[in-house]
Amino acid sequence: MTLTLQADQPMSVRNYVETLVNETLAAVLEQQHSRSTAAGSSAAEGAPQSRPTHCRNNSSTSTSTSPHSNSSSPQDTTSRTTGSTNNSKTMGDFVYFGAGPAKLPTTVLERIQGELLDLGGSHVSILEMSHRSPEFMKIVDDTVAKARKLLNIPDNYQVLFMQGGGTGQFSGVPLNLIGRTGKADYIVTGSWSAKAAKEAEKYGQPRLVAPKPATFGAIPDPASWSLDPEASYVYYCDNETVEGVEFHFVPETNGVPLVADMSSNIFSKPIDISKYGLIYAGAQKNIGPAGVTIVIVRDDLLNHALPITPNVLSYKVMAKENSLHNTPPCFAIYAVGLVFDWILENGGVEEMERRAIEKSDLLYNLIDKSNGFYTSVVDPSCRSRMNVPFRVKKDEKVEEKFLKEAKAAKFLGLKGHRSVGGIRASIYNAILPEQVSRLGSFIEEFAANN
Ligand SMILES: Cc1ncc(COP(=O)(O)O)c(C=O)c1O
Repeated sequence: MTLTLQADQPMSVRNYVETLVNETLAAVLEQQHSRSTAAGSSAAEGAPQSRPTHCRNNSSTSTSTSPHSNSSSPQDTTSRTTGSTNNSKTMGDFVYFGAGPAKLPTTVLERIQGELLDLGGSHVSILEMSHRSPEFMKIVDDTVAKARKLLNIPDNYQVLFMQGGGTGQFSGVPLNLIGRTGKADYIVTGSWSAKAAKEAEKYGQPRLVAPKPATFGAIPDPASWSLDPEASYVYYCDNETVEGVEFHFVPETNGVPLVADMSSNIFSKPIDISKYGLIYAGAQKNIGPAGVTIVIVRDDLLNHALPITPNVLSYKVMAKENSLHNTPPCFAIYAVGLVFDWILENGGVEEMERRAIEKSDLLYNLIDKSNGFYTSVVDPSCRSRMNVPFRVKKDEKVEEKFLKEAKAAKFLGLKGHRSVGGIRASIYNAILPEQVSRLGSFIEEFAANN
């Protein structure tokens, strides 16, 4: 905002008053801006449209000196601000149990909020930063290093950040790997592995190792699988997000590279990476916001891509260029790094697994002892520790009531996937055991009252 006085005033007075008023206005605006950013709110609201760099608040709430240092607090607070201009307006203790994009640790969101305008004293937001800047390249390297540390990833595996989500990898996997023999085996245990097998038909000959069941809820007995020793790879989905079917063992493939979609359970347990040729996961469930897909791939599998493989889906190209072949999803990669910090500070994947067992056991026990009020169709041997689908009295009307009352009790995102209906509680890493315990009390009360 600038003040312009009337032209008929004497020049010297005009200049003096204009300068004085404009300087005062600039100082007031800058003060307001600094106050709102220090309070953790977005300065975009109420701030001048074109915000000069010197207006940015360099004393952000982050205490970090590096753009990506490890300083988020291990606790997760449950109250959140809903608006940037009114921090007293909180969401109370709502818990979001959606399947993905899913809840992120609140401390991670607060850290993002605190440093959104100025990442680590760079005077640039992560939303604006060049992917070729030293600051961002350090974020990529640090995030890879944290993934390696958390999952103990051996040196002969690449850690890549790609785009296109899990669905992109339904094509990415065959495009990069099926060229070895033209054939691939698929273990289909739910909607996502079924979709992956279908997509692979475009690039070669995928084959199901066991007949696809009419409804999902079990893993066919490995003794019954017919595995082709000539297959380029054996593909499976470690956790079927829709149906809640999770592998609690690593499939034996007799030397054929094993490929796993771990989109909804990666970093929820230790993984023996050496047993896999490739693991991929879209970030938006357990490790960050939507937009980035992590691919962990063994070096010897980088050289089988079909000639038609687009560069953005080529593991070899991405590995050679440190995931920076083109503009990557910078914000998502940065946020994933913060979630990795949070996991590291909270006891690593071992602690995530302990919590996942505690949380899922609590819910399954309630379902099992409800005398049929609640039912799960998933075989107990492969019940997911991340996604707990169940029916309430097998009655859609009662389920609607359940969802309505759950919302009133501050539990959100519990509606089952549109393809199967019912209820689904997604209890990823960021959902704390005490939050599941509160949900458990609600589940018990609802059964008692209905
Ligand atoms: C296990 C699994 N694989 C793949 C996908 C597809 O991911 P995207 O939506 O990122 O393509 C999903 C999505 O929910 C999923 O849960």
